[in-house]
Amino acid sequence: MTREGRLGAIAAQQPGPSAAVLFVCLGNICRSPTAEAVFRERAARAGLAPHILVDSAGTGSWHVGHPPDRRAIAHAARRGYDLAPLRARQVTREDFRRFGWILAMDEDNLRDLAVLRPDAFDGHLGLMLDVAPALGVREVPDPYYGGGAGFERVLDLLEEASERLIERMESGLRS
Ligand code: 4NP
Repeated sequence: MTREGRLGAIAAQQPGPSAAVLFVCLGNICRSPTAEAVFRERAARAGLAPHILVDSAGTGSWHVGHPPDRRAIAHAARRGYDLAPLRARQVTREDFRRFGWILAMDEDNLRDLAVLRPDAFDGHLGLMLDVAPALGVREVPDPYYGGGAGFERVLDLLEEASERLIERMESGLRS
Protein backbone atom coordinates (compact mmCIF):
# COMPACT_ATOMS: atom_id res chain seq x y z
CA MET A 1 0.00 0.00 0.00
CA THR A 2 1.20 3.53 -0.66
CA ARG A 3 1.93 5.88 2.24
CA GLU A 4 -1.19 7.86 1.33
CA GLY A 5 -3.20 4.67 1.27
CA ARG A 6 -1.89 3.61 4.65
CA LEU A 7 -2.78 6.86 6.37
CA GLY A 8 -6.09 7.01 4.53
CA ALA A 9 -6.84 3.59 5.98
CA ILE A 10 -5.83 4.77 9.45
CA ALA A 11 -8.02 7.85 9.06
CA ALA A 12 -10.91 5.69 7.91
CA GLN A 13 -10.62 3.59 11.08
CA GLN A 14 -10.15 6.58 13.38
CA PRO A 15 -11.65 9.54 11.56
CA GLY A 16 -10.83 13.11 12.46
CA PRO A 17 -8.72 13.67 15.52
CA SER A 18 -6.36 10.72 15.01
CA ALA A 19 -4.94 12.50 11.98
CA ALA A 20 -5.00 15.99 13.51
CA VAL A 21 -1.89 17.44 15.15
CA LEU A 22 -1.67 20.57 17.30
CA PHE A 23 1.73 21.94 18.32
CA VAL A 24 1.76 24.10 21.45
CA CYS A 25 4.30 26.48 23.00
CA LEU A 26 4.01 29.56 25.19
CA GLY A 27 3.57 32.45 22.76
CA ASN A 28 2.77 30.66 19.47
CA ILE A 29 5.23 32.97 17.74
CA CYS A 30 8.52 30.98 17.82
CA ARG A 31 8.56 27.24 18.48
CA SER A 32 5.06 25.95 17.71
CA PRO A 33 4.60 27.85 14.42
CA THR A 34 8.01 26.50 13.42
CA ALA A 35 6.83 22.99 14.32
CA GLU A 36 3.65 23.54 12.33
CA ALA A 37 5.50 24.63 9.18
CA VAL A 38 8.23 21.97 9.42
CA PHE A 39 5.78 19.16 10.07
CA ARG A 40 3.45 20.34 7.30
CA GLU A 41 6.35 20.34 4.85
CA ARG A 42 7.48 16.86 5.91
CA ALA A 43 3.92 15.57 5.65
CA ALA A 44 3.57 17.04 2.16
CA ARG A 45 6.88 15.47 1.15
CA ALA A 46 5.57 12.11 2.37
CA GLY A 47 2.37 12.53 0.37
CA LEU A 48 0.29 12.74 3.53
CA ALA A 49 -0.77 16.39 3.44
CA PRO A 50 -4.36 15.78 2.30
CA HIS A 51 -4.92 13.38 5.20
CA ILE A 52 -3.51 15.39 8.09
CA LEU A 53 -4.77 18.52 9.87
CA VAL A 54 -1.90 20.59 11.30
CA ASP A 55 -2.13 23.67 13.51
CA SER A 56 -0.36 25.42 16.38
CA ALA A 57 -1.35 27.48 19.41
CA GLY A 58 0.08 29.10 22.52
CA THR A 59 -0.77 28.59 26.16
CA GLY A 60 -0.46 32.37 26.63
CA SER A 61 -2.54 35.12 25.04
CA TRP A 62 -0.01 37.98 24.71
CA HIS A 63 0.62 37.49 21.00
CA VAL A 64 -2.83 36.43 19.78
CA GLY A 65 -3.32 37.64 16.20
CA HIS A 66 0.37 38.41 15.70
CA PRO A 67 2.56 36.84 13.01
CA PRO A 68 5.48 34.70 14.17
CA ASP A 69 8.59 36.42 15.56
CA ARG A 70 10.55 37.94 12.67
CA ARG A 71 13.65 35.95 13.66
CA ALA A 72 11.68 32.69 13.55
CA ILE A 73 10.36 33.66 10.10
CA ALA A 74 13.86 34.50 8.83
CA HIS A 75 15.63 31.38 10.12
CA ALA A 76 12.85 29.10 8.87
CA ALA A 77 12.81 30.79 5.47
CA ARG A 78 16.49 29.96 4.99
CA ARG A 79 15.49 26.27 5.18
CA GLY A 80 12.51 26.72 2.88
CA TYR A 81 9.68 26.98 5.44
CA ASP A 82 7.16 29.82 5.16
CA LEU A 83 5.95 30.99 8.57
CA ALA A 84 4.84 34.44 7.44
CA PRO A 85 1.12 33.68 6.88
CA LEU A 86 0.66 32.13 10.34
CA ARG A 87 -1.09 34.03 13.14
CA ALA A 88 -0.88 33.29 16.85
CA ARG A 89 -3.87 31.97 18.77
CA GLN A 90 -4.40 30.62 22.26
CA VAL A 91 -5.13 26.95 22.88
CA THR A 92 -8.68 26.11 24.03
CA ARG A 93 -10.50 23.12 25.52
CA GLU A 94 -12.22 22.75 22.13
CA ASP A 95 -8.82 21.85 20.68
CA PHE A 96 -8.97 18.59 22.65
CA ARG A 97 -12.02 17.60 20.60
CA ARG A 98 -10.48 18.44 17.22
CA PHE A 99 -6.92 17.21 17.71
CA GLY A 100 -5.92 13.67 18.67
CA TRP A 101 -2.27 14.66 18.90
CA ILE A 102 -1.44 17.61 21.12
CA LEU A 103 2.30 18.07 21.37
CA ALA A 104 3.92 20.54 23.74
CA MET A 105 7.32 22.11 23.23
CA ASP A 106 8.30 22.07 26.93
CA GLU A 107 7.23 20.82 30.34
CA ASP A 108 5.62 24.13 31.32
CA ASN A 109 3.42 24.03 28.24
CA LEU A 110 2.54 20.40 29.01
CA ARG A 111 1.54 21.24 32.57
CA ASP A 112 -0.74 24.05 31.35
CA LEU A 113 -2.30 21.72 28.78
CA ALA A 114 -2.90 19.02 31.40
CA VAL A 115 -5.03 21.52 33.34
CA LEU A 116 -7.16 22.25 30.26
CA ARG A 117 -7.48 18.60 29.24
CA PRO A 118 -11.11 17.37 29.36
CA ASP A 119 -11.64 13.97 31.01
CA ALA A 120 -13.06 12.63 27.73
CA PHE A 121 -9.87 13.33 25.77
CA ASP A 122 -8.47 10.00 24.57
CA GLY A 123 -5.77 11.25 22.23
CA HIS A 124 -2.06 11.74 22.78
CA LEU A 125 -0.96 14.66 24.95
CA GLY A 126 2.81 14.77 25.38
CA LEU A 127 6.10 16.42 24.58
CA MET A 128 6.95 16.78 20.90
CA LEU A 129 10.53 15.58 21.40
CA ASP A 130 9.42 12.41 23.18
CA VAL A 131 8.54 11.06 19.72
CA ALA A 132 12.29 11.22 18.96
CA PRO A 133 14.07 9.75 22.00
CA ALA A 134 17.35 9.44 20.09
CA LEU A 135 17.66 13.23 20.28
CA GLY A 136 18.40 12.83 23.99
CA VAL A 137 16.53 16.01 24.87
CA ARG A 138 12.88 16.35 25.85
CA GLU A 139 12.23 20.09 25.57
CA VAL A 140 12.55 22.51 22.67
CA PRO A 141 14.43 25.42 24.29
CA ASP A 142 12.64 28.77 24.15
CA PRO A 143 14.67 30.92 21.71
CA TYR A 144 12.79 34.17 22.42
CA TYR A 145 15.40 35.86 24.64
CA GLY A 146 18.45 34.44 22.87
CA GLY A 147 20.30 34.77 19.57
CA GLY A 148 20.17 33.16 16.17
CA ALA A 149 21.73 29.90 17.32
CA GLY A 150 18.63 29.24 19.40
CA PHE A 151 16.36 29.47 16.37
CA GLU A 152 18.63 27.13 14.41
CA ARG A 153 18.54 24.65 17.29
CA VAL A 154 14.73 24.80 17.31
CA LEU A 155 14.71 23.96 13.59
CA ASP A 156 17.20 21.10 14.01
CA LEU A 157 15.16 19.49 16.78
CA LEU A 158 11.83 19.93 15.05
CA GLU A 159 13.03 18.58 11.70
CA GLU A 160 14.18 15.35 13.32
CA ALA A 161 11.10 15.01 15.54
CA SER A 162 8.76 15.67 12.59
CA GLU A 163 10.26 12.73 10.71
CA ARG A 164 9.68 10.46 13.69
CA LEU A 165 6.15 11.78 14.21
CA ILE A 166 5.22 10.98 10.63
CA GLU A 167 6.45 7.42 11.16
CA ARG A 168 4.40 7.17 14.35
CA MET A 169 1.24 8.49 12.73
CA GLU A 170 1.66 6.19 9.75
CA SER A 171 1.96 3.17 11.99
CA GLY A 172 -1.25 4.23 13.73
CA LEU A 173 0.34 4.34 17.16
CA ARG A 174 -1.14 6.84 19.57
CA SER A 175 0.65 5.89 22.77
P1 4NP B 1 7.37 30.65 21.93
O1 4NP B 1 8.40 31.79 22.42
O2 4NP B 1 6.67 30.14 23.16
O3 4NP B 1 8.26 29.63 21.31
O4 4NP B 1 6.42 31.34 20.95
C1 4NP B 1 8.03 32.86 23.22
C2 4NP B 1 7.39 33.94 22.66
C3 4NP B 1 7.04 35.02 23.44
C4 4NP B 1 7.34 35.02 24.79
C5 4NP B 1 7.96 33.93 25.36
C6 4NP B 1 8.30 32.85 24.57
N1 4NP B 1 7.00 36.15 25.57
O5 4NP B 1 7.36 36.16 26.76
O6 4NP B 1 6.37 37.08 25.09
